[in-house]
Parts: sequence; structure tokens; C-alpha cells
Amino acid sequence: MTRQIPKEEGLDHSLAFMREGYLYVPNRRKSFQSNLFETRLLGERVVCLGGAEAAAVFYDADKFVRQDAAPKRLLKTLFGEDGVQTLDGTAHTHRKKMFMALMFPANIERLTKLVRRGWERTLDAAESETVLYDVAQEVLMRAVCEWAGVPLRENEVKRRTDEMRLLFESGTALGLKHLRGRTARSSAESWIREMVEEVRTNRLLPNKQTALYEFTWHRDEAGELLPADVVAVEVINILRPTVAVSIYVLFTVLALHQFPESRAKLAHGEIEPTWFVQEVRRFYPFFPVTAARVRRNFEWNDYAFEQGTLVLLDLYGTNHDFALWSEPDQFNPERFKSWTESPFAFIPQGGGDVDFGHRCAGEHVTIEILRETIDVFLNHYRYAVPSQDLSYSFVDLPSLPKSGLILNHIERNEQK
Ligand code: HEM
Repeated sequence: MTRQIPKEEGLDHSLAFMREGYLYVPNRRKSFQSNLFETRLLGERVVCLGGAEAAAVFYDADKFVRQDAAPKRLLKTLFGEDGVQTLDGTAHTHRKKMFMALMFPANIERLTKLVRRGWERTLDAAESETVLYDVAQEVLMRAVCEWAGVPLRENEVKRRTDEMRLLFESGTALGLKHLRGRTARSSAESWIREMVEEVRTNRLLPNKQTALYEFTWHRDEAGELLPADVVAVEVINILRPTVAVSIYVLFTVLALHQFPESRAKLAHGEIEPTWFVQEVRRFYPFFPVTAARVRRNFEWNDYAFEQGTLVLLDLYGTNHDFALWSEPDQFNPERFKSWTESPFAFIPQGGGDVDFGHRCAGEHVTIEILRETIDVFLNHYRYAVPSQDLSYSFVDLPSLPKSGLILNHIERNEQK
């Protein structure tokens, strides 16, 4: 006998989702006392899932597909069309391999060295007050463009960095900001598309093992080169999220400021930088949910899932699940000391298998950039955090400290 999925009554709950943001799904999981419930969003029946067991089902590619799962407005801004996020089956694994071929340790180290150099150049030249959000984005944009083989002229650094920022800031925005996100997407895509055409006609020669080179010459499972606009979407799938790591940079520096006990343990080597980074990724909000559609009818725990149903997985809530984490609302990097790596309980960047599923291709890149950032801000520079609005929202997506994190009195720590 199948059971009834707990259901939120009413015609549509999109407004409640916008009002509650990261907490929309966790709040209802709590009140229904259930790891799944049914609701209606943007006029469509949606099932929301949370927790490790649910994540394991969600990442079972026999049960779920990504085709038509992301809303059009996200494809027009954040993701782009026909990118890896929207693919299934062998088309997906083939395309994902193209990304993962860049993610070997020496290549990730090449990127973190570029980030390191960028931090030093920027912090050495820092003026009296520095908004970390702004400078972090430029540091990351310069570094990732060089890493990806994308020429970035000095006079276009600001414009192209702003475009990347708009792509991830405008995904869920309404009105003018959303329109600005669409404009940023078409401008960024034509910028990269022209480069792809130059590479294909030997007018631009990026190094091997860069995204521009490898994606331009990648052949799909039928042996065909990708259309230039799809290459552009995929190169931007490297540039945009790397610039978005700026948000985690802010949360990392905020955590160093707001949790002085953990900072001291980090400085004395009692906490590993990696535990600190993992706790930042677990604790602070970033992606609230990810989406898929039911591939074909199946039952799970006696609940019926019908083909085509839109399903959201609660990423933020799973990282704060009382069944999986002790005192989940406490910032405690030491919890990662004895953490038994689970691909489904800790899912700030998605879960499951990175090569065969939709888990984030850039998780190691993110971790390494943040480890480098900790070393820079903890060991190599001194700075002050003046009084400012450091609050962050659980409603606005993406969430980040309101002030953009202002630092002053930045100077090199000459003792190191
Ligand atoms: C800012 C930190 C980041 C966060 C919070 C993040 C988060 C995510 C999430 C939630 C997903 C979707 C998982 C799913 O739908 O199952 C994803 C996918 C992806 N991410 Fe990230 N990401 C970050 C950084 C990066 C970086 C630095 C890169 C590349 C250098 C990257 C490249 C990708 C790609 C290519 C995908 C699509 C994977 C697929 O569909 O198979 N991300 N990321």
C-alpha cells in the first residue's frame, strides 16, 4: 500500500518560498516531521526531499533526470542553455569527463597559485577601506581567466567581473536585476564564443589543459565538436562559479572574525584548515536546493513518485539536519576531525558521485581556494574589521554579509 505524501494545502506557495528562502524546505520538513512533502511552486506540483537517505535516492540516475528541471529563468541567467547541468545519461557523463579532466591536483594547484599571487598583489595595494566582496571577485576573475586560457584585457577586468557576478546574483531576482542578468549572459557568451571561433581558426592559441583549449576541441559522444555557443556556456561554467567562490571567501573571513576561539585553534595548529573550510561550507547558506524530475514511476519508502514530477533536494537543510549533525547550528570545525565521508549527508555543492552524477565539478577547486585564503588572512596579513552590518539574510539568494565585509589597516604580517 502506498502512503500519502504529506501535502502543503493551498494553490501556490511561491511567495512563501521567496519569503522564507533557505528555510522554506527545512521549516516544512520540521512541521510535517517528514523528510518529504508535497507543495505547489510556480503553478506546478513539487515534491521536496531532505536528509541523507533522500539524497541517495535523488542522485540515483535511474530514478531522476535533469532535462527540463531547472526553471527557464535560471537557464537564461545562472546556468546558460544546453550546459552540463541539463544533460542526462551518456551525454552527461561524456560532458562531465571534459570538466573533470581539468581537475587533477597539479592543475588545481596552478589555479590556487594564481589566486595566491592575486591576493598578495591586491592586499599589498589595499587602500584604507577595502570591500572584500569586490576585491575577491577581481582576484578570482583574473586568476580563473588565466587558468582557463581566457585572455582578459586590463581595461575589461571590471566589466567582465561584473558580468560574472550578475549571472549568479540575478538567477532568482525579479524585475530589472533579472533583466540585467540576461544581458550579462548574452554579453559574456558572445565574448567567449568569439574566442572559440578564434581558437578554431588558429588566431588564438590557448595552452593545453586550459578550459578554453580543451572545451573548444572536445568531441561529444558522436565524435562532433560542440557548437561554439555550447563551448561558451561551459567555459562560463568554469569562470562564473569560481568568481562565486568570493561568497565563501567572505564567509571564511567572517568566520575567522566571529569565532575567535576557532581562529586561535587554527593558528595553533589544533584545527586543520580543511576542517575549517568544510565547516564554512556546511554552516553558511549558499545553494538552498537543487532540482530534478522523476525519470519513471517508482516507489520509495512506500511513497509513489510519478514520472515527470519536479523534485527539489534540500541542500542547506540536509547540512543542518539534526539526524545527521550534532548541534548543527553551532559553528564547530572540529566535527570534521572524525567525519566519516558521506556523499549524501554533507552536500553544500550537491551529493553523490562527481564523475557520474551532477555533483559539483569544482568542489576541490573551492576547497583549495579557501584553504589558500585562510593561509593568506590568518598567517600573512593583519587587518581590522571595523564596525559594519555583518548580518546575512536567510531569504536573499545568494546570501552574503550585507556590508560586503569591509576591512581596513591591511598590512603584511612581517613575522611570517
Ligand atoms: C562557490 C562555490 C560553489 C558552490 C556552492 C557550488 C555548488 C554547486 C551545486 C549545488 C551544483 C549542483 C549539484 C546538483 O545539481 O546536483 C554544482 C554543479 C556544478 N558546479 Fe559548482 N559550486 C561551486 C563552485 C564551483 C566551481 C569553482 C566550479 C568550477 C571550477 C564549479 C563547477 C560546477 C559544474 C560544472 C557543475 C555542474 C555539474 C553537473 O551538472 O554534472 N562549481 N555546483
